[in-house]
Amino acid sequence: MLCAEPIYMAYQEQQLQEISRQFQIYGEILHAETFKIGHINETYSATYDQGGTRVRYIHQKINKQVFKNPVALMKNILRVTTHVRAKLEAQGSHDITRRSLVLIPTRDGQSYYRTCDADYWRTFVFVEGVQTFESVESPAQAFQAGRAFGEFQNLLVDISGERIDETIPNFHHTRNRFNALQQAIQKDHFNRAKDAAPEIKFALAHEHLVDVILAAMAKRAIPERITHNDTKFNNVMLDTLTGEAKCVVDLDTVMPGCVLYDFGDMVRTTTSPTLEDEKDLNKVGMRLPIFKKLAEGYFSAAGSFLKSAEKDLMAFSGKLITFEIGMRFLTDFLSGDTYFRIHRPDHNLDRCRTQFKLVESIERQEKAMQKFVDKL
Ligand SMILES: Nc1ncnc2c1ncn2[C@@H]1O[C@H](COP(=O)(O)OP(=O)(O)O)[C@@H](O)[C@H]1O
Ligand SMILES: [Mg+2]
Repeated sequence: MLCAEPIYMAYQEQQLQEISRQFQIYGEILHAETFKIGHINETYSATYDQGGTRVRYIHQKINKQVFKNPVALMKNILRVTTHVRAKLEAQGSHDITRRSLVLIPTRDGQSYYRTCDADYWRTFVFVEGVQTFESVESPAQAFQAGRAFGEFQNLLVDISGERIDETIPNFHHTRNRFNALQQAIQKDHFNRAKDAAPEIKFALAHEHLVDVILAAMAKRAIPERITHNDTKFNNVMLDTLTGEAKCVVDLDTVMPGCVLYDFGDMVRTTTSPTLEDEKDLNKVGMRLPIFKKLAEGYFSAAGSFLKSAEKDLMAFSGKLITFEIGMRFLTDFLSGDTYFRIHRPDHNLDRCRTQFKLVESIERQEKAMQKFVDKL
């Protein structure tokens, strides 16, 4: 699905124009409108006349409920986009302003504008001639998804200086997630454990998964690198004409971590033909041809830096991240649905079941998946 239709006008045009004017944009503003109100951010666009040419910009309001430290977050985004751009320039790449987000500073040189209501806004160059899709529709798109995030990680592999801020600490600390689930089971505040007995049994039986990557990182067999942490396909912008991945967006969660978390989440979100809350579990499954293309694409870009300890866990990472998200849905179901927004009773339990079904499917095919990766 193409995500370009205005949904509703959360701001009056006048207010948007006022915000737009805070940034260092040349020319005369023609109009400003809602572009996309997503689960996390609100995205708007503004069109300027610059010497007779119409040029668009993206304005985004940062979600301060989710991101408690917008200043640190923007510092990360500025560092990452500046680094990526410098590397693309050094490589003599073409089409650079379509291959990485470019932040436009405010009139006083900041990377964000803070309103009197303490809302934080940022502005990017509008990448033209691209499309995003809600889900992977072909093996070729799976390849592009893998390549895009692999390339993003590769461009950041040598970022130097102080450690990038961990804006959401322990985001993928699977042991902590497991402990939180155990607590929710013990408390059983909502008397729901009885409704989720098979899922609880499944989760407890998979405890052995949770420390594998944490232990490898603690031993430094797997290095800490910069990861994207939201590797859904709708965060990859593809060239409308060629279908080639151009640019990765949604950099709010860029943090230090394990690159396998990004790859694992790609496996989770692309290889099953179903949505996260599919009720018909018979439809849920890891499709090996999609996995192969995803891995090929990822390896085509990340292969240059991946250590064998990382490569060896590529199939495993899909299982781990799917299990982790399934545990989080289960924990939320048992705790009264306070974190993930639900649209029907048992929604989080349905989501958990889908994830665990996918874990089983990966488990059955894990050897074949890893065998394929080993040959890359
Ligand atoms: N610089 C940009 N140029 C063109 N489109 C963009 C740009 N940044 C974001 N978008 C579009 O807006 C959508 C939402 O942006 P994103 O940062 O992913 O926010 P959300 O948190 O809502 O997912 C993207 O999927 C993409 O289609
Ligand atoms: Mg997004």
